[in-house]
Amino acid sequence: MWRLWYQRLAKAKEWGELNYMNYGFTDADQPVLDEKDESDRLFIQLYHMNIRDIELGGKNVLEVGSGRGGGADWIARTYSPSTLTAVDYSAKAVQLCERLYAGQGNLDFVKGNAMALPFDDTSFDIIYNVESSHCYSDMGAFVAEVHRVLRSGGLFAWTDFRDESRMREVHDIFLDTGFGIVEHSDVTAEVLKALDEMSDDKQARIKNGTSLAIRRSFETFAGVRGTPVYESFQNGSLGYHRYLLTK
Ligand SMILES: C[S@@+](CC[C@H](N)C(=O)[O-])C[C@H]1O[C@@H](n2cnc3c(N)ncnc32)[C@H](O)[C@@H]1O
Repeated sequence: MWRLWYQRLAKAKEWGELNYMNYGFTDADQPVLDEKDESDRLFIQLYHMNIRDIELGGKNVLEVGSGRGGGADWIARTYSPSTLTAVDYSAKAVQLCERLYAGQGNLDFVKGNAMALPFDDTSFDIIYNVESSHCYSDMGAFVAEVHRVLRSGGLFAWTDFRDESRMREVHDIFLDTGFGIVEHSDVTAEVLKALDEMSDDKQARIKNGTSLAIRRSFETFAGVRGTPVYESFQNGSLGYHRYLLTK
């Protein structure tokens, strides 16, 4: 169901200039941003939270599920990886990113499937994944692919949401695939705070950009206050987690 949504969203004119498609994050550790990135602060902070304890400078880095590319561009500009390869299933999103970020020399966008990554074994030092894996039909195949293309000693930073039983499955998949857990945290409260902060703005944007017929669906997807996703984070039936794993 989520995958269909993202395919629609990647194409949606209504989504306008948005280069991020995540629920955001906020805590006390706020990155310094360029003026032009300030309006995307909450979305960028989800990326920042996921990679802030990793040294990316000079490394070969892979993002899986890069969407409209804002996060990959910010990381490529800010942390100077030697190369950042960003892969997404949506050809439209990849084309858009190739156009928008053509000037960023260390950044490449590739169309590909998270469950069959188009890369050789042990190609990357660091792999990260932000709010994308809930779309994948086979989480085990994705994690096995990450393990295959990551070099020995490399790091995998993952963040996404699940209900409690699916989260336990994800935890077991990480261990069964052979990853070691460096760190695990529940960041639901910080994601919910970001959703609260941007709810009014998102609602206004959706109201301006969509017809009445699809407005509620966009609001639901965006997790604005009062929608099932928002309520699920609030009542604990959905949890947002972050894992740092090592091969
Ligand atoms: C919620 S968006 C998040 C995008 C981006 N990480 C962000 O935070 O802005 C989920 C993304 O996962 C991508 N995706 C879904 N299934 C995929 C798959 N099997 N392989 C690669 N990407 C996939 C979608 O096309 C979409 O761009």
